[in-house]
Amino acid sequence: MLVTQQPVLRRFWYALMPMAHLDDGPKPFRLLGTDLVLWKQADGSPVALADRCCHRTAKLSRGFVENGQIVCGYHGWTYDCSGACVRIPQQPDLQIPAGARVPSYRAQEKYGYVWVALEDPLRPIPHFPEDGQPGYRRIFQFHEEWKTSPLRMMENSFDNAHFSYVHKANFGILENPKPAPYEFRETDYGFEAETLVPIRNPPSGHRVTGTTEPITHRHLVNRYYLPFCRRFGCRYPASGVDHIIYNCATPMEDGRMLLVQWLYRNDTEAQCSRQELIDWDAAITAEDRDILEATDFDACIDTTRRMEFHMTSDKPGLVIRRQLMDLLTAHGEVEVHRGNVGLLAAQAAQAAPAGAAAGSAA
Ligand code: FES
Ligand SMILES: [Fe+2]
Repeated sequence: MLVTQQPVLRRFWYALMPMAHLDDGPKPFRLLGTDLVLWKQADGSPVALADRCCHRTAKLSRGFVENGQIVCGYHGWTYDCSGACVRIPQQPDLQIPAGARVPSYRAQEKYGYVWVALEDPLRPIPHFPEDGQPGYRRIFQFHEEWKTSPLRMMENSFDNAHFSYVHKANFGILENPKPAPYEFRETDYGFEAETLVPIRNPPSGHRVTGTTEPITHRHLVNRYYLPFCRRFGCRYPASGVDHIIYNCATPMEDGRMLLVQWLYRNDTEAQCSRQELIDWDAAITAEDRDILEATDFDACIDTTRRMEFHMTSDKPGLVIRRQLMDLLTAHGEVEVHRGNVGLLAAQAAQAAPAGAAAGSAA
């Protein structure tokens, strides 16, 4: 599936960057092939506009914020939060041309991040119950670009069969490759998958797991939120420590995504510091990234195309594919992939009303 070619994906919220990144001025972001500029308006809430000035196309993200509005760095045309040009400094006494504006998009702050939906959202941002709960601390972990697709990241995160290999230098048990089975429940937001996984617990992980058992367990209550969010709901039963990760695999363009990851822990900084937890998960995340960047980002969601073979433990990835296919079908879309993208474009051009092409070329 080529994410930029499926319009329905524009109708979901995605986490783009921590709000704090906007403290020192506007920032660019490419979401589903669309260039955005993000900034904080006067009340501190985020704004998203197309990153292209309507005067001479300069990127607005190269400009600056003044009184909560964005000023183009080229000639100073100034835009309000709706995208309307409100000031042309060179001719303050003349009327601003009708239609002088840039497209605007929905933006909001949630869980400390800027979230953007390019078109009317089908669902709200998922509810993550640990946020703000007494006893839990929130730790921003990662905000990094991966050269793969969100579907690859999502299926990997529910794949109990890769631990023994990808994470063999870490918590994986190479001698025990048979994955723990999931108890599986489909939900209105996606699904929940519960399991108990044995892991190696080397001394370097004792403060993370809260136990010194050489082999310990993770009780996982993982959740998938259509299309590209997930919860890694981990409790170490031996210690009662929760290590609950949320991810948004934000689609930037085909073959590029942003891994957004933050963590909730129910222990204290003295028991395991923020930096220890970042370092611990960084090693694991790097292992996943390394192998996922070695896969084909154009992951097939229509399994009738038979592009890949499957095994029993691939069930979560197959349910993700089915739910994505159902989403496309419900919105009149077929899966667009490298094998049909040119064909579909040619069909669309043929179906376009006569004169459309001449009109656009004029
Ligand atoms: S290009 Fe933006 S003001 Fe001229
Ligand atoms: Fe992994």
